[in-house]
Parts: sequence; structure tokens; C-alpha cells
Amino acid sequence: MQTSVIKATSLFKTVSTNQEKLTILKGINLEIEAGESVAIVGTSGAGKSTLMTLLAGLDTPTEGDVMLLGNELSKLDDEARAKIRSESVGFVFQSFLLIPSLSALDNVTLPCLLKGESENVERAKQLLDSVGLGHRLHHSPAQLSGGEQQRVALARAFMIEPKILFADEPTGNLDQKTASKVIELLFELNKKHGTTLVLVTHDMSLASKCDRTLTIHAGQVEEQ
Ligand SMILES: Nc1ncnc2c1ncn2[C@@H]1O[C@H](COP(=O)(O)OP(=O)(O)OP(=O)(O)O)[C@@H](O)[C@H]1O
Ligand SMILES: [Mg+2]
Repeated sequence: MQTSVIKATSLFKTVSTNQEKLTILKGINLEIEAGESVAIVGTSGAGKSTLMTLLAGLDTPTEGDVMLLGNELSKLDDEARAKIRSESVGFVFQSFLLIPSLSALDNVTLPCLLKGESENVERAKQLLDSVGLGHRLHHSPAQLSGGEQQRVALARAFMIEPKILFADEPTGNLDQKTASKVIELLFELNKKHGTTLVLVTHDMSLASKCDRTLTIHAGQVEEQ
């Protein structure tokens, strides 16, 4: 039997600006099974990041509901949603959300502390090394380039071996060699630990490595 780890039903997202109300997502239905790798593609402004934040429970839909790992997100408060995220979900977003006052290494060990586990410094070092940052362990985010910060965010997301990893343009700022290394790491996590991957990308070679590709167009999802 297959188990779906993410299920979205009739998701709508409407936002208000000064001038108008804008409906970004117009009735999204999708289901993602445990261990699947799914690429979300679409033109800039199509609503990919918006959809991802809803699926991850970082924002709430205007209508519709998301089941995440068997939890109906609309029935949970912020605290309960945060608990699911810290225990089972990894994120790599377009804004990297590193803690500015912590070194690269401490940013990577942080999810252990949030989860209430002792920090595994050796593993953090290995992960940073595997994204090519073994020589930048003690730099703060401000002392790292954009692509380096993104790689710290990836290492951090891998740290707890999440059940689901959401990544928004994980290779967007990276050179080709580093990008292929990161892609290798993503799929290693997927194969070894059965981590479900949900990847927003403009990179068609990355999308083609995924089990499925979902295209966001006119506020709806089209499956290829
Ligand atoms: N809070 C908001 N208020 C007003 N408009 C918003 C808001 N959030 C998103 N939008 C608009 O909704 C659209 C979808 O945004 P989103 O960030 O989801 O696009 P995207 O598909 O991730 O694009 P990109 O590939 O450029 O990252 C954009 O046109 C954006 O301007
Ligand atoms: Mg985006």
C-alpha cells in the first residue's frame, strides 16, 4: 500500500495588495507518496514558492486543506505545525534563512538542538564538507557568498534526515559542478533514507531526474 505524505485538496491562495486582490493559486489538488521525488516547475511568478510554503505549513491557504504526514494542517495551531516541521521536514528556500549570529557549523547543528537531540558535530562537518564548504566552517552567513549560504542551508536541511525535504531552487545560485554535487546529495538522501523530495526548479535536467514533474500554470497544477 502506498502512503501519501502530502495531500492538497482544492487549495486557493488569495493575497491583497493596495490595488487589488490577487488569486495566485486556484484550486490545486495533488498527492505525493512517501519516497517520491517531485519537481515543481512553471514560469517566474506562476506561484511555485507560494504553493511550497502552503504544502510545508509555513503559510495557510485561503481555502482548501493540506494533509502533511497524516496531519490536517488547518486543524493545528502554529506550535503544533512547528513541531511537525522541526521533527520531520527540511527546507531550503530562496531566502536562505540562516541565523546571522551563528557560524556555518552551528547553523548546521541547530536542527538537532531544535529537535532536542545532542548535536552531532562530526556529521555536520561531513555534510559541510560534502557541499564543498569544509574550509568555511567558522564563517558567519555575512562572510559567505550567496551560493555558499545556500549550501549551508542544504547541509542544515540534511542534518536531521527529514521525512520530507522542500527545496526552492536548490541549485539556482550554483555553478554547474557544485550544482551537480548538490543534486547528487539530494538523491542520495532520497535513495538511502527514503526522503520525499519536493523541488521547485527551473533546471530541466534536475526536473528530469525526479519521478514526477508538476507544472504550475494559471493557478493550477498540470501533471506531465
Ligand atoms: N504576499 C503577496 N502579496 C502580493 N503578491 C504576491 C504575494 N506573494 C506572492 N505574490 C505574487 O504572486 C505571484 C506568485 O509568486 P511566487 O513567489 O509563488 O512565484 P514563483 O513561481 O515562485 O516565481 P519565481 O520562479 O520567480 O520564484 C507573483 O506574481 C507574486 O508577485
Ligand atoms: Mg519562487
